[in-house]
Amino acid sequence: MISIKTKNELDLMRKAGEVVALAHKKVEESIKPGVTTLELDRIVEEVIRKSGAIPSFKGYKCPYPGGIDYPSSICASVNNEVVHGIPGLRELKDGDIISIDIGAYLNGFHGDAARTFAVGKISPEAEKLIEATKQSFFEGIKNAVEGNRIIDISSAIEDYIASNGYTVVREYVGHGIGREMHEEPQIPNYRSRERGPRLQHGMTLAVEPMVNEGTYRVELLKNKWTVVTADGMLSAHYENTIAVTENEPVILTILD
Ligand code: MF3
Ligand code: CO
Repeated sequence: MISIKTKNELDLMRKAGEVVALAHKKVEESIKPGVTTLELDRIVEEVIRKSGAIPSFKGYKCPYPGGIDYPSSICASVNNEVVHGIPGLRELKDGDIISIDIGAYLNGFHGDAARTFAVGKISPEAEKLIEATKQSFFEGIKNAVEGNRIIDISSAIEDYIASNGYTVVREYVGHGIGREMHEEPQIPNYRSRERGPRLQHGMTLAVEPMVNEGTYRVELLKNKWTVVTADGMLSAHYENTIAVTENEPVILTILD
């Protein structure tokens, strides 16, 4: 079942989305060589809690047997890490890229967004990967209009990424979002066999391309959370929570 949000519910989702956007703004200011991913986690958690919200990810059940509940407020995925990197004592180095994923729960609704940031001065190749990943999100959501289908978002993302010489991760996908962080429908970043449901105003979606420099194949580390590229090349992530309307979608996790 896909939940359709009322006007009032969309206002609440916007509030949750604002907390996520604010946390991203704060954390971006702290990303520099020498900082640990655990310090970034602390900064985000403080913003979320001071806003009266709760970190959505903390305590989330691991989908794989043998994994601990998610211990942190952010996912911090460096270089070849694709998603779900667990914050720790690793210090960022000049030239790294880091994907930060943040979720906040406020007044019964979740907001979810991810960005990839540069640490100090990065290579032109890494810069291009980050930009293409971000742009693929915007290409995708041009199709997030009532009457279209999920596959119209997916195929626009896939085509844009392929035309830039990159690959999209297939094992992890975007998702509906609302009272639960993960709701129906799934939103692949590639043309899957199913066209997916028709889009309707009041649907809220987390669209999140995960883009690799080399192979699209990924591996799961022994901690049962951290996903890495199979070939060790770079990966970038860009995600926003959006609301479908009769016209252009509204992005709920960007501050205006
Ligand atoms: N944005 C990610 C997702 O949609 C974050 C999940 S981290 C988790 O899957 F810990 F909550 F699983
Ligand atoms: Co998400």
